[in-house]
Amino acid sequence: MTASILDGKSFAASIREKVAEHVARLKNEHGVTPGLAVVLVGEDPASQVYVRSKGKQTVEVGMASFEHKLAPDISEADLLDLITKLNADPEIHGILVQLPLPAHLNSDLVINSIDPAKDVDGFHISNVGLLGTGQKSMVPCTPLGCLMMLRDHHGSLSGLEAVVVGRSNIVGKPMAQLLLGESCTVTIAHSRTKDLAETCRRADILVAAVGRAEMIPGDWVKPGATVIDVGINRIERDGKRVLVGDVHFDSAAQVAGAITPVPGGVGPMTIACLLANTVTACCRANGLPEPDGLTV
Ligand code: GUN
Repeated sequence: MTASILDGKSFAASIREKVAEHVARLKNEHGVTPGLAVVLVGEDPASQVYVRSKGKQTVEVGMASFEHKLAPDISEADLLDLITKLNADPEIHGILVQLPLPAHLNSDLVINSIDPAKDVDGFHISNVGLLGTGQKSMVPCTPLGCLMMLRDHHGSLSGLEAVVVGRSNIVGKPMAQLLLGESCTVTIAHSRTKDLAETCRRADILVAAVGRAEMIPGDWVKPGATVIDVGINRIERDGKRVLVGDVHFDSAAQVAGAITPVPGGVGPMTIACLLANTVTACCRANGLPEPDGLTV
């Protein structure tokens, strides 16, 4: 293996430490405790795991955690009522509605009912627009974590060729906006891209966010490139359930200059950035200076 490993686990721990320090300062000097409300509709097992982890880490950094677990058949009106209450609650600075929602609920409507200032996911249409026009916004957590790792590794990203594989609203599109904001030359590729292999080979920075296990082999990677693997796919290998990314790690690590592993790469950064966004939202709500290094 030639690539250096970008260790998201320890990076995320350092972000949580910064968040905890800032939370202590907010409490001691300003009498304010940042609060995060997480709303889970239904009983999707993966979502339950994520929500539990978010609640646990929120408490560990000293913030207040409010969990709302709702029945899978809750009406849209009742869900919107809850969000209206959370929007008005001064103890709550961040609101996250875990996705995906059951099919009878209109996700766009629900997300856009969150106060944009409390939208710590950065999914509200106002935050999407602010990010797209280079204005101060709430930035989606996974792309924010990827950008922090890229900045840490490269310093300036200016002029680099970046290829984002995947065009989701949660990762691909905001990731592309962030890289554009860093003056990269950005391509968004996806399942219909004509020559995906050749497109990937152009990338100095290759971000894989397609949700297909090991879809990107090493011979799609430019020698020396930085590979950010957002995929978290559960597959069976040698009779065991294992986690793999969207990139074929062993072959890509022979070619890349740096690469994020799965697990232990981008994954841990997402919740760390959620905590960072909640502190940022709390500071903005109280007219206080924002902590350094926790947003872009
Ligand atoms: N489901 C998968 N990823 C996310 C995320 O980042 N935020 C929310 N709200 N739901 C998700």
